[in-house]
Amino acid sequence: MCGIVGYVGDKESAPILVSGLKKLEYRGYDSAGVAVVSRNTLNVVRATGKLRNLENRVSQEEPKGTIGIGHTRWATHGRPSDENAHPHSYKGVAVVHNGIIENHLALKAELRARGHHFSSETDTEVFAHLISDELDSGRDLPEAVRQAIKQVKGTYALAVVCSSDPNRIVCTKDASPMVLGLGEGQNFVASDVPALLEHTRDIVYMEEGDLAVVTAQGVALYNRQGQLVNRPTRRIDWTPMMAEKGGHKHFMHKEIWEQPRAVADTLRGRMLLSEGDVHFEGWSLSPEKVRALSKVTILACGTSWHSGIAGKHMIESLARIPVEVELASEFRYRDPIVDSTHLAIAISQSGETADTLAAFKEAKGRGATAMAICNVMGSAMTREADISVLTNAGPEIGVASTKAFTTQLVTLYMLAVKLGRMRGTLTVQQAQEHLTRLTEVPKMIEEVLKCETSVKRVARDFMSSQDFLFLGRGPMHPVALEGALKLKEISYIHAEGYAGGEMKHGPIALIDEKMPVVVIAPKQPHVAYEKIIGNIEEVRARGGKVIAIIDEDDTHVASLADDVIRIPPACALLAPVVATIPLQLLAYHVAEMRGNDVDQPRNLAKSVTVE
Ligand code: F6R
Repeated sequence: MCGIVGYVGDKESAPILVSGLKKLEYRGYDSAGVAVVSRNTLNVVRATGKLRNLENRVSQEEPKGTIGIGHTRWATHGRPSDENAHPHSYKGVAVVHNGIIENHLALKAELRARGHHFSSETDTEVFAHLISDELDSGRDLPEAVRQAIKQVKGTYALAVVCSSDPNRIVCTKDASPMVLGLGEGQNFVASDVPALLEHTRDIVYMEEGDLAVVTAQGVALYNRQGQLVNRPTRRIDWTPMMAEKGGHKHFMHKEIWEQPRAVADTLRGRMLLSEGDVHFEGWSLSPEKVRALSKVTILACGTSWHSGIAGKHMIESLARIPVEVELASEFRYRDPIVDSTHLAIAISQSGETADTLAAFKEAKGRGATAMAICNVMGSAMTREADISVLTNAGPEIGVASTKAFTTQLVTLYMLAVKLGRMRGTLTVQQAQEHLTRLTEVPKMIEEVLKCETSVKRVARDFMSSQDFLFLGRGPMHPVALEGALKLKEISYIHAEGYAGGEMKHGPIALIDEKMPVVVIAPKQPHVAYEKIIGNIEEVRARGGKVIAIIDEDDTHVASLADDVIRIPPACALLAPVVATIPLQLLAYHVAEMRGNDVDQPRNLAKSVTVE
């Protein structure tokens, strides 16, 4: 994520940039900054934390200039700090960037060898240095940017201003969003439409590889081959709130639909396919230490705890280490057995959940190596951790966790592969097969999202039910737990998630003709397909209604269930990612049909920072 704005016209740019950034704060809020140019002078103002900190600095320093760029950051490389805040500048060139540069370490090494010094830990700063070198070799700004991006591997939306070329913004994008806003005697650049609606409703969406040269008088747009192109101008009639949600009615719905992108960002730059390995930035565990691990303890709450249960299946199966998954709120009040051969993994979207943080400190204090799997860089858990692995889902605004969960799952899968390689439980070839499957996940999520129409029909049929039961076996057990949690937290319908084998030990007493039972039944041996069919028969025999989540080609369960939702087939360990999505949509549509406040359900908070 991260939000970018740019302005060129005849007004002071800094207040316009700050007000645009306010509309993009949902894209990140670790730090923010602006760079404005006036009479061949570049003024950069940056501040860590929420935008109001930048606003205060801008009102004190009053940077002058009628052209400028601004940024609100969601940290991926380098902790949140003033130095790591964008814009990054070098010799009069200032850049703001959204995306990830995969080869930044190699580029930094080359640049250092040529005498460059870096003042941040970010990947972005290399852009300022590369562009500056290209300018020094006699190129103009657009050409310098074009040459710089040729050297970069990764994703970017990039906007650049330069003190020696003070009348134009150059921007370019590949896989990260960027739009242009057209005005009278003034023009704009932004990551997203909400930043522009105050000034213009005439928007041009840049396409992959496009480069735009934006002046007060107009915009020239070039494609990847450098040819001048015309992209259509669209008139946007969204309200600002609709625009922030990208046209979706709720943030939760937007975040469900963002999952192909979010998961692709989690995987980006980490899959070393030819080596059959995974690269995690800052990984500091030696092979000896990994081989000596006697136990992994996962600490988490709520949805993150569910991903931990799926992670147990992955790590035990691929790396053959025993894994315990602990509710953080219970662990911290026990006298747990922990020693220096243990790896404690805190899983948390926010990185601030009080119980998880306390349990994590407890495990670390007793000698365990502390690893955080978090979505928020610089959060308390990443600060406490010996190793942090970011999930890179981007900010999650809806209180009910969606993309945070699926990105945690793929992170755990990558971790299981990495540990498996280091412990010798996976050959290079086996690891390559697992990584290849992972690369297919974003496409599979795109496919499964097509089930929304059937999910809506099921939601309409069962929206008035008072209770739901969710059943799954093996890796589908955490999916059942997650489906039940999603439904109860936003629809306020009582729901229970159970391991299929447990049904006979109690919950079966609840089943009657009013009870919908959601059975997660992809066709795999690990998921005990035959046994879950047994569960379905037991529910039917008692008059319960069966809603089955099944593989696309499954005719058998389809003939037994009252309703089916079809998902593309995935291997057992990755099936939780795909199978969860219909359940997120089911909870969403039931809640929406019941008229509930989906994004801010009653009694809940996004980040539980108290016990
Ligand atoms: C459910 C949900 C919560 C969180 C839990 C932990 O949709 O969002 O159950 O998963 O409060 O939060 P994090 O992951 O931030 O530690």
